[in-house]
Amino acid sequence: MNAVSTAEADSIHAQDATYQWSDSLLTGDARMDETHREFADQLGALLATPVSEQLPLYQEFIAHTVAHFAQEDRWMQATGFTASNCHTDQHAMILETMQAVVQHYQKGEADIINRMGEALAEWFDQHATSMDAGLAQHLQSVGFDSATETLANPAAVRNVTVSGCGSVSHG
Ligand SMILES: [Fe+2]
Ligand SMILES: [Fe+2]
Repeated sequence: MNAVSTAEADSIHAQDATYQWSDSLLTGDARMDETHREFADQLGALLATPVSEQLPLYQEFIAHTVAHFAQEDRWMQATGFTASNCHTDQHAMILETMQAVVQHYQKGEADIINRMGEALAEWFDQHATSMDAGLAQHLQSVGFDSATETLANPAAVRNVTVSGCGSVSHG
């Protein structure tokens, strides 16, 4: 990319979207909420950074998201979700899109991390309050302690099979 296009992209986004944590995103699972707060903080910092300087932050953000999604996927597997379920599938799809953005950015699409960040801000508000909130409720209902990743009573999930999204629905 040349200096002009980077400067233009920087100035276009000088007063663009911001993002910050809101308690409306709380799921009731302390460890999940802590991870979500980090996600929100990193996303906010990314959007507040000039596009020409976003790549290192974005790569850290991807690494954090890999761990964030793996953590939830692991908890689902431990509590009766099928290996392929729509929450895990959504994680995989989002991560794949986030990773693909790196190559586009490196090929000169200076604005693409910013656009991905804006899309993620919208996506996350929705995801945290539906699928993640649903997962938090499920963990609680089967007695799974996310801090230690242990089930108080393994029999509680013996007959549980969750193959859908496990979302909380908003009426
Ligand atoms: Fe999450
Ligand atoms: Fe999730």
